[in-house]
Amino acid sequence: MKVLVTGGAGFVGSHIVDQALEAGYEVSVIDDLSTGKKGQVNPYASFYEMNIASPDVERVIRQEMPDFIIHQAAQSSVPISLKDPIGDATTNIIGTVNLLEAARRHGVRKVVYASSAAVYGEPQYMGIDEVHPKQPLSPYGISKYVPEFYLNAYHHLYGLNYTAFRYANVYGERQDPKGEGGVVSIFVDRALAGQELTVFGDGEQTRDFVYVQDVARANIMALAGGDNEILNISTNQKTSVNQLIALMEEALGSKLAVKYEAPREGDIMHSYLDNTSATEKLGWKPRYSLQEGLTKTLRFYQVSK
Ligand SMILES: NC(=O)c1ccc[n+]([C@@H]2O[C@H](COP(=O)([O-])OP(=O)(O)OC[C@H]3O[C@@H](n4cnc5c(N)ncnc54)[C@H](O)[C@@H]3O)[C@@H](O)[C@H]2O)c1
Repeated sequence: MKVLVTGGAGFVGSHIVDQALEAGYEVSVIDDLSTGKKGQVNPYASFYEMNIASPDVERVIRQEMPDFIIHQAAQSSVPISLKDPIGDATTNIIGTVNLLEAARRHGVRKVVYASSAAVYGEPQYMGIDEVHPKQPLSPYGISKYVPEFYLNAYHHLYGLNYTAFRYANVYGERQDPKGEGGVVSIFVDRALAGQELTVFGDGEQTRDFVYVQDVARANIMALAGGDNEILNISTNQKTSVNQLIALMEEALGSKLAVKYEAPREGDIMHSYLDNTSATEKLGWKPRYSLQEGLTKTLRFYQVSK
């Protein structure tokens, strides 16, 4: 069976490629390398350097004839979406529609899509479940949400199956600390360089940190289940930034220098996502605790430094 992974040179996508190959799938990748790295693409996958919004995507799908598409390629930064909402919408919305058009024309059975917790906006209750109101507060949150409607419509119009995952804060190996990487990759990078960590606010703000290998496994499981569902991929647990720092200190066996600055405007104070539906409808549960995932992430960066 064949899987096409878009964004397979990126953080989450490259782990999906690895796990799909391990599971015995034949894998191809489309990525324009705007944030991804060619060196992260597993050499056993075929690689197409291409923009997902390009008409050439149809040629690749015609040639590869994938059974499944796992769609991770995206403009994945909230701040960039504020600076360039048109570029953000072009990649995340038009790029996805371009892919869906090619998919339905060439007999793709299913598209697995990476949506985001950003679709919910300001939390109105916790844990946030899939029926929580959707009021995205950034162009990125909107551009990740709109494709969910296309997926549902393409299922009804053309019988194209889908699973859409709303990821919480993903962390782990290969997350780029230099770009718009998550707090974990930034902290790990600074800690290993002996630099001070900057916390905005008092550090009591909480997030739901889910390990990348658990996220990749959910995507592989969706090739065999969870059809036409929208599911949170999360740990159902909130961790404060201060707790995260304490766990890092424990894993490193040393104290870290931390500087507290004024909170950033617009930052959400608390957030965690209910993952009951992913367990019930897909049989997925995270396997890694934050401590285990953090330790693996730290080891990876220690070795690659
Ligand atoms: N990392 C997180 O915490 C998180 C949370 C929620 C949702 N997501 C979603 O998960 C997916 C993967 O995110 P990530 O953290 O791995 O980001 P990433 O930036 O590392 O990966 C995205 C990949 O897509 C590629 N890409 C970008 N624009 C493209 C285009 N126009 N054509 C082809 N390729 C393009 C990039 O080069 C990169 O390799 C994204 O869809 C993102 O929106 C991520």
